[in-house]
Amino acid sequence: MKISVCGKGGSGKSTIVALLANEARLRGYRVLVVDSDESNSGLFSMLGFDYPPVPLMELVGGKKSLQQKMGRPSVLAESHIVLEDLPPQHLVQRDGLMLVGIGKILQSLEGCACPMGVLSREFLKKLTLEPNELAIVDMEAGVEHFGRGVETSIDSVLIVVEPPLESINVGQKIHDLASGIGVKNIWAILNKVPSDEIATRLRMELQERQIEVVGCIYFDANIFRSSLEGRMPAKGVAVREIKDVLDRILSKAGLPAPK
Ligand SMILES: Nc1ncnc2c1ncn2[C@@H]1O[C@H](COP(=O)(O)OP(=O)(O)OP(=O)(O)O)[C@@H](O)[C@H]1O
Ligand SMILES: [Mg+2]
Repeated sequence: MKISVCGKGGSGKSTIVALLANEARLRGYRVLVVDSDESNSGLFSMLGFDYPPVPLMELVGGKKSLQQKMGRPSVLAESHIVLEDLPPQHLVQRDGLMLVGIGKILQSLEGCACPMGVLSREFLKKLTLEPNELAIVDMEAGVEHFGRGVETSIDSVLIVVEPPLESINVGQKIHDLASGIGVKNIWAILNKVPSDEIATRLRMELQERQIEVVGCIYFDANIFRSSLEGRMPAKGVAVREIKDVLDRILSKAGLPAPK
């Protein structure tokens, strides 16, 4: 299963990725988190790693070299990539949790992030998973990644929606773009919800837009506090709530429990 976590900037994509990845790992899945956000660099720390992996962009000679190769049918040599194929320096891992990064914008005037979108798309297309393996993609904010075709080989899109209307509107756009390219499963997850009343209103809004909601994560002060240190809490309301969300996702996707 390849699941892309999308949504408006700051809605909680990376937080949901970290919560889901950790919960899936605890259940015995091998989890590959793919950092496809070219701007933010703190995901490794949220996942409990001490340093980030060397970006895959370096594997193809950096952004400049990739740009020269753009337009050719394949940027990575293999036609299929299994987790074992990933070179050690491009992967950080512990206890069934793995992280790869596509690349980051590091300098001003270095050009747009399109080559990274191409690499994300090609990598995800070639990535071949076993039934006990999950890939969870921390997507850049907004909808540009759809323009770059990053989701073409993704089977599930999880849209993170927080209370502001703008977040719902971006969610709607993501939903429409994902269904337009035939993504099999498209769900929303509510995040940073302050009360039951707001949860009900958000659910109604999304129902009207025919967007299926797979769960709700309430505003959790533990998460907010831990984010000051760039970490995720090991316990707390959200850590408990994500269990139901993962149950629903796995059962809707028909993914077997890992052996
Ligand atoms: N359920 C929650 N309760 C409290 N705070 C939360 C919750 N979810 C996320 N946050 C906080 O909201 C902020 C943004 O979260 P996060 O970085 O996960 O969003 P994002 O969508 O990945 O942002 P970006 O678009 O910049 O990548 C962080 O400070 C995080 O701790
Ligand atoms: Mg993020």
